[in-house]
Amino acid sequence: MTTIVNSWNDFDPLKHVIVGRADFSVIPPEEPATSEKVPIDSEMRGMWGPRPTATVEAANEQLDNYAKILEGLGIKVDRPTPLQWNQAITTPDFRTESGFTQMPPRDILLTIGKEIISSANSFRCRYFEYLAYWPLMKQYFDEDPEFLWTQAPRPRLTDKSYKHNYYDEKISLEERLERTAAKDFVTTEFEPMWDAADVMRVGKDLFIQHGLTTNRTAMEWFKRYYPDLRVHAVNFPGDPYPIHIDATFVPLRPGLIINNPHRRLPEEQRKIFEANDWQIVDAAQPAHDTPPPLCYSSVWLSMNCLVIDHKTVCVEASEVHQMEQMDKLGMNVIPVPFRDAYAFGGGLHCATADVYREGTCEDYFP
Ligand code: ARG
Repeated sequence: MTTIVNSWNDFDPLKHVIVGRADFSVIPPEEPATSEKVPIDSEMRGMWGPRPTATVEAANEQLDNYAKILEGLGIKVDRPTPLQWNQAITTPDFRTESGFTQMPPRDILLTIGKEIISSANSFRCRYFEYLAYWPLMKQYFDEDPEFLWTQAPRPRLTDKSYKHNYYDEKISLEERLERTAAKDFVTTEFEPMWDAADVMRVGKDLFIQHGLTTNRTAMEWFKRYYPDLRVHAVNFPGDPYPIHIDATFVPLRPGLIINNPHRRLPEEQRKIFEANDWQIVDAAQPAHDTPPPLCYSSVWLSMNCLVIDHKTVCVEASEVHQMEQMDKLGMNVIPVPFRDAYAFGGGLHCATADVYREGTCEDYFP
Protein backbone atom coordinates (compact mmCIF):
# COMPACT_ATOMS: atom_id res chain seq x y z
CA MET A 1 0.00 0.00 0.00
CA THR A 2 1.38 3.38 -0.90
CA THR A 3 0.48 6.41 1.13
CA ILE A 4 0.92 9.51 -0.99
CA VAL A 5 -1.05 12.10 0.95
CA ASN A 6 -0.58 12.95 4.63
CA SER A 7 -0.09 16.33 6.31
CA TRP A 8 -1.44 17.72 9.57
CA ASN A 9 0.48 20.93 10.00
CA ASP A 10 2.94 23.32 8.37
CA PHE A 11 6.12 22.27 10.17
CA ASP A 12 6.65 18.50 10.29
CA PRO A 13 9.26 17.10 7.84
CA LEU A 14 8.11 17.86 4.30
CA LYS A 15 8.49 15.04 1.76
CA HIS A 16 6.16 15.87 -1.11
CA VAL A 17 4.80 19.21 -2.26
CA ILE A 18 3.09 20.97 -5.16
CA VAL A 19 4.77 24.11 -6.57
CA GLY A 20 2.64 26.43 -8.73
CA ARG A 21 3.22 27.74 -12.25
CA ALA A 22 2.70 31.24 -13.63
CA ASP A 23 1.67 30.33 -17.21
CA PHE A 24 -1.30 32.13 -18.75
CA SER A 25 -1.85 34.28 -15.66
CA VAL A 26 -4.29 37.13 -16.05
CA ILE A 27 -4.99 40.31 -14.10
CA PRO A 28 -8.74 39.75 -13.81
CA PRO A 29 -11.28 42.51 -14.46
CA GLU A 30 -13.28 43.93 -11.58
CA GLU A 31 -16.06 41.79 -10.21
CA PRO A 32 -18.07 42.07 -7.00
CA ALA A 33 -15.70 42.17 -4.04
CA THR A 34 -12.43 42.30 -5.94
CA SER A 35 -11.83 46.03 -5.95
CA GLU A 36 -12.28 45.88 -2.17
CA LYS A 37 -9.37 43.48 -2.03
CA VAL A 38 -6.96 45.53 -4.16
CA PRO A 39 -4.91 48.07 -2.16
CA ILE A 40 -6.28 51.61 -2.51
CA ASP A 41 -3.15 53.05 -4.08
CA SER A 42 -2.47 50.09 -6.38
CA GLU A 43 -1.44 50.79 -9.98
CA MET A 44 -3.62 47.81 -10.92
CA ARG A 45 -6.97 49.53 -10.30
CA GLY A 46 -9.09 49.27 -13.41
CA MET A 47 -6.43 47.33 -15.28
CA TRP A 48 -7.02 43.87 -16.71
CA GLY A 49 -5.70 41.40 -19.25
CA PRO A 50 -2.96 38.78 -19.63
CA ARG A 51 0.15 39.50 -17.59
CA PRO A 52 3.16 40.63 -19.64
CA THR A 53 5.05 37.64 -21.08
CA ALA A 54 8.42 38.76 -19.72
CA THR A 55 7.01 38.79 -16.16
CA VAL A 56 5.48 35.33 -16.61
CA GLU A 57 8.84 34.01 -17.81
CA ALA A 58 10.71 35.60 -14.91
CA ALA A 59 8.22 34.17 -12.41
CA ASN A 60 8.41 30.70 -13.95
CA GLU A 61 12.18 30.79 -13.80
CA GLN A 62 12.06 31.42 -10.05
CA LEU A 63 9.32 28.84 -9.54
CA ASP A 64 11.37 26.22 -11.43
CA ASN A 65 14.45 27.10 -9.42
CA TYR A 66 12.44 26.81 -6.18
CA ALA A 67 11.24 23.36 -7.28
CA LYS A 68 14.88 22.36 -7.93
CA ILE A 69 15.98 23.59 -4.50
CA LEU A 70 13.23 21.53 -2.86
CA GLU A 71 14.16 18.48 -4.90
CA GLY A 72 17.74 18.97 -3.76
CA LEU A 73 16.45 18.58 -0.21
CA GLY A 74 15.01 15.19 -1.11
CA ILE A 75 11.43 16.49 -1.47
CA LYS A 76 9.25 15.21 -4.29
CA VAL A 77 7.80 18.12 -6.27
CA ASP A 78 4.69 18.02 -8.45
CA ARG A 79 3.49 20.82 -10.71
CA PRO A 80 -0.03 21.79 -11.83
CA THR A 81 -1.19 21.66 -15.44
CA PRO A 82 -1.69 25.25 -16.65
CA LEU A 83 -4.97 26.29 -18.20
CA GLN A 84 -5.59 29.18 -20.57
CA TRP A 85 -7.05 31.72 -18.14
CA ASN A 86 -7.59 34.43 -20.71
CA GLN A 87 -11.14 33.34 -21.44
CA ALA A 88 -14.50 34.10 -19.88
CA ILE A 89 -15.79 32.09 -16.94
CA THR A 90 -19.50 31.37 -17.09
CA THR A 91 -21.82 29.47 -14.82
CA PRO A 92 -25.65 29.55 -14.74
CA ASP A 93 -25.26 32.30 -12.10
CA PHE A 94 -22.56 34.64 -13.36
CA ARG A 95 -20.13 35.54 -16.09
CA THR A 96 -16.75 37.18 -15.68
CA GLU A 97 -14.30 37.95 -18.46
CA SER A 98 -11.29 35.94 -17.30
CA GLY A 99 -9.75 33.46 -14.91
CA PHE A 100 -6.64 34.11 -12.82
CA THR A 101 -3.65 31.75 -12.51
CA GLN A 102 -2.36 28.49 -11.01
CA MET A 103 0.54 30.09 -9.19
CA PRO A 104 -0.56 29.89 -5.55
CA PRO A 105 -1.80 26.33 -4.94
CA ARG A 106 -2.01 27.21 -1.23
CA ASP A 107 -5.13 29.28 -1.92
CA ILE A 108 -6.95 26.37 -3.53
CA LEU A 109 -5.84 23.10 -1.90
CA LEU A 110 -6.15 22.31 1.80
CA THR A 111 -4.50 19.12 3.02
CA ILE A 112 -5.83 17.66 6.24
CA GLY A 113 -4.44 14.22 7.00
CA LYS A 114 -5.10 11.97 4.03
CA GLU A 115 -7.60 14.36 2.49
CA ILE A 116 -7.06 17.22 0.06
CA ILE A 117 -10.03 19.57 -0.19
CA SER A 118 -10.44 21.97 -3.07
CA SER A 119 -11.68 25.20 -1.50
CA ALA A 120 -14.78 27.35 -1.93
CA ASN A 121 -13.14 30.55 -3.16
CA SER A 122 -15.07 33.79 -3.15
CA PHE A 123 -13.49 35.24 -6.32
CA ARG A 124 -15.50 34.49 -9.43
CA CYS A 125 -12.29 34.56 -11.52
CA ARG A 126 -10.96 31.69 -9.42
CA TYR A 127 -14.02 29.47 -9.89
CA PHE A 128 -12.26 26.90 -12.08
CA GLU A 129 -8.70 27.27 -10.79
CA TYR A 130 -8.90 23.84 -9.14
CA LEU A 131 -8.88 22.23 -12.61
CA ALA A 132 -5.13 22.89 -12.85
CA TYR A 133 -4.64 20.48 -9.93
CA TRP A 134 -7.10 17.82 -11.05
CA PRO A 135 -4.54 15.75 -12.98
CA LEU A 136 -2.46 15.50 -9.79
CA MET A 137 -5.49 14.75 -7.64
CA LYS A 138 -6.49 11.98 -10.02
CA GLN A 139 -3.00 10.55 -9.89
CA TYR A 140 -2.95 10.55 -6.05
CA PHE A 141 -6.39 8.96 -6.11
CA ASP A 142 -5.19 6.19 -8.46
CA GLU A 143 -2.02 5.51 -6.48
CA ASP A 144 -3.05 5.98 -2.86
CA PRO A 145 -5.96 3.74 -1.82
CA GLU A 146 -6.67 5.91 1.21
CA PHE A 147 -6.48 9.34 -0.38
CA LEU A 148 -9.68 11.35 0.05
CA TRP A 149 -10.27 13.58 -2.96
CA THR A 150 -12.74 16.23 -1.89
CA GLN A 151 -14.43 19.26 -3.31
CA ALA A 152 -15.95 21.64 -0.75
CA PRO A 153 -19.55 22.74 -1.46
CA ARG A 154 -19.26 25.11 -4.40
CA PRO A 155 -20.54 28.58 -3.65
CA ARG A 156 -22.87 29.99 -6.29
CA LEU A 157 -21.30 33.46 -6.03
CA THR A 158 -24.46 35.30 -6.98
CA ASP A 159 -24.96 38.89 -5.90
CA LYS A 160 -26.23 37.59 -2.56
CA SER A 161 -22.68 36.66 -1.60
CA TYR A 162 -21.36 40.21 -1.64
CA LYS A 163 -22.24 43.51 -0.03
CA HIS A 164 -22.74 46.04 -2.78
CA ASN A 165 -21.43 49.61 -2.57
CA TYR A 166 -19.49 48.45 0.46
CA TYR A 167 -16.57 50.73 -0.32
CA ASP A 168 -16.33 53.67 -2.60
CA GLU A 169 -13.11 54.64 -4.30
CA LYS A 170 -12.42 57.38 -1.80
CA ILE A 171 -12.36 55.21 1.29
CA SER A 172 -9.39 55.92 3.52
CA LEU A 173 -7.00 53.41 5.00
CA GLU A 174 -8.28 54.30 8.49
CA GLU A 175 -11.80 53.42 7.47
CA ARG A 176 -10.65 50.09 6.10
CA LEU A 177 -8.97 49.35 9.40
CA GLU A 178 -12.15 50.27 11.27
CA ARG A 179 -14.12 47.84 9.13
CA THR A 180 -11.60 45.04 9.80
CA ALA A 181 -11.73 45.75 13.53
CA ALA A 182 -15.54 45.64 13.39
CA LYS A 183 -15.35 42.37 11.38
CA ASP A 184 -17.39 44.05 8.69
CA PHE A 185 -16.25 42.44 5.44
CA VAL A 186 -17.35 42.72 1.82
CA THR A 187 -18.45 39.10 1.65
CA THR A 188 -21.79 38.12 3.20
CA GLU A 189 -22.72 35.05 5.22
CA PHE A 190 -25.12 33.77 2.57
CA GLU A 191 -23.11 30.60 1.83
CA PRO A 192 -19.79 29.09 2.99
CA MET A 193 -16.87 30.74 1.18
CA TRP A 194 -13.23 30.13 2.01
CA ASP A 195 -9.74 30.21 0.56
CA ALA A 196 -7.48 27.37 1.67
CA ALA A 197 -4.74 29.89 2.58
CA ASP A 198 -6.93 31.29 5.36
CA VAL A 199 -6.63 28.01 7.26
CA MET A 200 -3.66 27.42 9.56
CA ARG A 201 -3.42 23.73 10.41
CA VAL A 202 -1.90 22.71 13.74
CA GLY A 203 -2.88 19.06 14.18
CA LYS A 204 -6.21 18.82 15.97
CA ASP A 205 -6.73 22.58 15.74
CA LEU A 206 -7.60 24.68 12.72
CA PHE A 207 -7.10 28.43 13.11
CA ILE A 208 -9.10 30.13 10.37
CA GLN A 209 -8.83 33.80 9.50
CA HIS A 210 -12.19 35.54 9.19
CA GLY A 211 -11.70 38.23 6.56
CA LEU A 212 -12.33 39.24 2.96
CA THR A 213 -11.96 35.73 1.53
CA THR A 214 -13.34 33.50 4.30
CA ASN A 215 -16.61 33.96 6.18
CA ARG A 216 -18.08 32.63 9.39
CA THR A 217 -20.45 30.32 7.54
CA ALA A 218 -17.36 28.52 6.23
CA MET A 219 -16.20 27.96 9.80
CA GLU A 220 -19.59 26.46 10.58
CA TRP A 221 -19.04 24.10 7.62
CA PHE A 222 -15.60 23.12 8.92
CA LYS A 223 -17.04 22.38 12.37
CA ARG A 224 -19.64 20.05 10.96
CA TYR A 225 -17.32 18.43 8.43
CA TYR A 226 -14.55 17.80 10.96
CA PRO A 227 -16.31 17.06 14.26
CA ASP A 228 -13.05 15.69 15.69
CA LEU A 229 -11.05 18.84 15.02
CA ARG A 230 -11.35 22.18 16.85
CA VAL A 231 -12.10 25.19 14.69
CA HIS A 232 -11.03 28.64 15.91
CA ALA A 233 -11.92 31.88 14.20
CA VAL A 234 -9.04 34.33 14.32
CA ASN A 235 -8.97 38.03 13.42
CA PHE A 236 -6.09 40.38 12.83
CA PRO A 237 -7.46 43.88 13.35
CA GLY A 238 -4.37 45.69 11.99
CA ASP A 239 -4.79 44.35 8.45
CA PRO A 240 -6.72 46.61 6.06
CA TYR A 241 -7.00 43.72 3.55
CA PRO A 242 -7.32 40.51 5.56
CA ILE A 243 -6.72 37.89 2.88
CA HIS A 244 -4.87 34.65 3.72
CA ILE A 245 -3.24 33.98 7.06
CA ASP A 246 0.26 33.15 5.80
CA ALA A 247 1.76 36.65 5.78
CA THR A 248 0.27 37.30 9.22
CA PHE A 249 0.53 34.29 11.50
CA VAL A 250 3.06 31.59 10.64
CA PRO A 251 4.04 28.58 12.79
CA LEU A 252 7.71 27.54 12.64
CA ARG A 253 7.64 24.49 14.89
CA PRO A 254 5.54 23.17 17.77
CA GLY A 255 5.47 25.96 20.34
CA LEU A 256 6.58 28.84 18.10
CA ILE A 257 4.67 31.21 15.82
CA ILE A 258 5.75 34.44 14.17
CA ASN A 259 3.08 37.16 14.03
CA ASN A 260 3.04 40.24 11.81
CA PRO A 261 3.64 43.14 14.25
CA HIS A 262 1.10 45.30 12.39
CA ARG A 263 -1.53 42.58 12.64
CA ARG A 264 -1.26 41.23 16.17
CA LEU A 265 -3.60 38.49 17.32
CA PRO A 266 -6.00 40.05 19.85
CA GLU A 267 -5.36 39.34 23.52
CA GLU A 268 -8.38 37.15 24.03
CA GLN A 269 -7.49 34.96 21.03
CA ARG A 270 -3.90 34.53 22.30
CA LYS A 271 -5.06 32.66 25.38
CA ILE A 272 -5.11 29.21 23.84
CA PHE A 273 -1.48 29.61 22.73
CA GLU A 274 -0.26 31.03 26.01
CA ALA A 275 -2.11 28.41 28.05
CA ASN A 276 -0.15 25.76 26.14
CA ASP A 277 3.24 27.50 26.34
CA TRP A 278 3.36 28.51 22.73
CA GLN A 279 5.44 31.58 22.06
CA ILE A 280 4.13 34.22 19.64
CA VAL A 281 7.03 36.34 18.37
CA ASP A 282 6.82 39.52 16.28
CA ALA A 283 8.11 38.81 12.77
CA ALA A 284 11.14 40.78 11.56
CA GLN A 285 10.65 43.89 9.42
CA PRO A 286 10.49 43.34 5.66
CA ALA A 287 13.62 44.33 3.72
CA HIS A 288 11.58 46.24 1.10
CA ASP A 289 9.46 49.39 1.36
CA THR A 290 7.15 48.43 -1.47
CA PRO A 291 5.99 45.22 -3.12
CA PRO A 292 7.20 44.53 -6.68
CA PRO A 293 5.13 45.94 -9.62
CA LEU A 294 1.65 44.56 -10.35
CA CYS A 295 1.52 42.77 -6.99
CA TYR A 296 -1.61 42.36 -4.86
CA SER A 297 0.23 41.41 -1.70
CA SER A 298 2.01 43.57 0.84
CA VAL A 299 5.71 43.72 1.73
CA TRP A 300 4.92 41.19 4.45
CA LEU A 301 5.43 38.33 2.04
CA SER A 302 8.79 38.58 3.83
CA MET A 303 7.39 36.23 6.49
CA ASN A 304 5.61 33.93 4.02
CA CYS A 305 8.15 31.15 4.50
CA LEU A 306 8.02 27.44 3.82
CA VAL A 307 9.02 25.32 6.80
CA ILE A 308 10.84 22.17 5.70
CA ASP A 309 11.14 20.65 9.19
CA HIS A 310 11.41 21.87 12.80
CA LYS A 311 14.90 23.23 12.14
CA THR A 312 14.86 24.27 8.47
CA VAL A 313 13.00 26.99 6.62
CA CYS A 314 12.97 28.56 3.14
CA VAL A 315 12.99 32.39 3.22
CA GLU A 316 13.01 34.77 0.25
CA ALA A 317 16.66 35.52 -0.56
CA SER A 318 16.50 39.32 -0.27
CA GLU A 319 14.70 39.28 3.10
CA VAL A 320 17.82 39.80 5.18
CA HIS A 321 16.02 40.74 8.42
CA GLN A 322 13.69 37.76 8.28
CA MET A 323 16.61 35.43 7.57
CA GLU A 324 18.54 36.85 10.50
CA GLN A 325 15.56 36.41 12.83
CA MET A 326 15.10 32.79 11.71
CA ASP A 327 18.73 32.16 12.48
CA LYS A 328 18.32 33.61 15.98
CA LEU A 329 15.23 31.45 16.50
CA GLY A 330 17.39 28.41 15.83
CA MET A 331 16.33 27.67 12.26
CA ASN A 332 18.66 26.86 9.38
CA VAL A 333 17.72 29.16 6.53
CA ILE A 334 17.60 28.21 2.85
CA PRO A 335 17.46 31.45 0.84
CA VAL A 336 15.23 31.24 -2.24
CA PRO A 337 15.02 34.13 -4.76
CA PHE A 338 11.32 34.67 -5.36
CA ARG A 339 10.36 38.34 -5.74
CA ASP A 340 9.66 37.94 -9.47
CA ALA A 341 6.88 35.50 -8.60
CA TYR A 342 5.20 37.63 -5.89
CA ALA A 343 2.89 39.43 -8.31
CA PHE A 344 1.34 36.11 -9.36
CA GLY A 345 -0.27 35.56 -5.98
CA GLY A 346 2.23 35.39 -3.18
CA GLY A 347 5.44 34.13 -1.63
CA LEU A 348 7.17 30.86 -0.86
CA HIS A 349 4.35 29.44 1.26
CA CYS A 350 1.54 30.56 -1.06
CA ALA A 351 3.34 29.02 -4.04
CA THR A 352 3.14 25.52 -2.56
CA ALA A 353 0.60 23.03 -1.24
CA ASP A 354 1.42 20.13 1.06
CA VAL A 355 1.09 16.59 -0.20
CA TYR A 356 3.09 14.68 2.41
CA ARG A 357 4.66 15.60 5.71
CA GLU A 358 5.75 13.03 8.25
CA GLY A 359 3.84 12.96 11.52
CA THR A 360 0.32 12.40 12.75
CA CYS A 361 -2.58 14.44 14.08
CA GLU A 362 -1.36 15.71 17.43
CA ASP A 363 -3.17 17.64 20.08
CA TYR A 364 -0.95 20.66 20.77
CA PHE A 365 -3.62 22.55 22.73
CA PRO A 366 -5.13 19.99 25.11
N1 ARG B 1 -2.65 39.21 2.41
C1 ARG B 1 -1.23 38.97 2.47
C2 ARG B 1 -0.47 40.29 2.47
O1 ARG B 1 -0.54 41.01 1.54
C3 ARG B 1 -0.76 38.12 1.35
C4 ARG B 1 -1.10 36.69 1.52
C5 ARG B 1 -0.76 35.88 0.33
N2 ARG B 1 -1.00 34.51 0.61
C6 ARG B 1 -1.41 33.61 -0.26
N3 ARG B 1 -1.59 32.38 0.19
N4 ARG B 1 -1.68 33.88 -1.52
O2 ARG B 1 0.25 40.59 3.38
